[in-house]
Amino acid sequence: MKWPAERISASSPKSFGMYEKAARLAAQDIDLIHLEVGMPSFDTPQNIKDATIAALQGGRVHYGDFRGNIELRRAIARRLARHNDLAVGEDEIVVTNGLTHASYAVFMAALDPGDEVILLEPYYPQHVNKIELAGGRVVLAPLDRARGFAIDPAAIEARITPRTRMICLVNPANPTGRVYTRAELASLAEIAIRHDLLVLSDEVYEQIVYDGHRHVSIAALPGMRERCFSLFAFTKAYAMDGWRIGWLAAHEKFIPALLKITMNDVAHVNVFIQEGAREALEGPQTRIAEMVAEDKRRRDQVVQRMNQMSGVTCETPQGTIYAFPDISATGKPAQQVADEILERCHVVTEAGTFYGAAGEGRLRVCFGAEPHDRIATALDRMARYFADQS
Ligand SMILES: Cc1ncc(COP(=O)(O)O)c(C=O)c1O
Repeated sequence: MKWPAERISASSPKSFGMYEKAARLAAQDIDLIHLEVGMPSFDTPQNIKDATIAALQGGRVHYGDFRGNIELRRAIARRLARHNDLAVGEDEIVVTNGLTHASYAVFMAALDPGDEVILLEPYYPQHVNKIELAGGRVVLAPLDRARGFAIDPAAIEARITPRTRMICLVNPANPTGRVYTRAELASLAEIAIRHDLLVLSDEVYEQIVYDGHRHVSIAALPGMRERCFSLFAFTKAYAMDGWRIGWLAAHEKFIPALLKITMNDVAHVNVFIQEGAREALEGPQTRIAEMVAEDKRRRDQVVQRMNQMSGVTCETPQGTIYAFPDISATGKPAQQVADEILERCHVVTEAGTFYGAAGEGRLRVCFGAEPHDRIATALDRMARYFADQS
């Protein structure tokens, strides 16, 4: 018996990082503080739950449109016009099972074996797995560490070959917390246009930005609509990670090929959940603002305390729910530091190297998954750990 298919064995054996190590300790009933997984700590707002329950009670239980409910796609189109400066038709939207499903569909529809995708590093690990599963080859282009992990157009340009098909970015960026400026995005767009490349833009954190930083969708830049896949989800800002719903927006010429993937893997997303998603977009937004304000409070707590720790410097993330402190002064590899913090402090963080070699010397600290007081306890323990290193 031949098992599994070559594309499975050929793809990276990327692990779930610290999540697995933490699960082993949790199985021994050790109370761990989770600063690793990007899971919102808030409950989904009640109006979203109510709309979903009403749809279910009202009989929205049968097959629906493959692209997603028309009312939801219209609401998404209105939102993209309002917030993202994107004029997208309702037939240029596909509702997906979270951003995870959207990116899988794009890579599957776009890549032939050996096609290269330039991934900005540090990267989101799932993108590596999915590019490889689709038969593509990952080519890493480091972000400019000295400029707060800004986009480095020269690094991208240097990696373009005749096999390059696509550039993949995450904006606002996980794990660095950077919100790319219009000028940075324009430098990437210029390269994509000149070499006639596709662009996948993962915008799952678009609403979680702080201090007046403005999220810009790269598809809104001149010449980009016809080469961009703009990917969004209800996951983070609406605290709907378990609901599994998001969407992709792309030029109409791309939609039939994308539907060939999504129609065959899930047919379409659960119809009554789509009613909750519509309420998320069109209902009151005050709860979202409150949740982002609380994330900001936790961000400030983490950044301030980490900068006081011996040998640690921590830039202020402009968006997302992640800080990416520099712990290189310990002289230890990031993975060792993350392992020791887990063992000694019972605090779970992620090594910067989980996001590629460009993350060496860093830890990723999620401030979105635990309440303020638990984060405070974690920071007290980490302060003692770093004090012991000096
Ligand atoms: C950059 C990035 N993309 C995608 C996802 C997954 O999104 P979803 O849960 O909507 O599939 C995450 C989750 O942490 C993420 O950080």
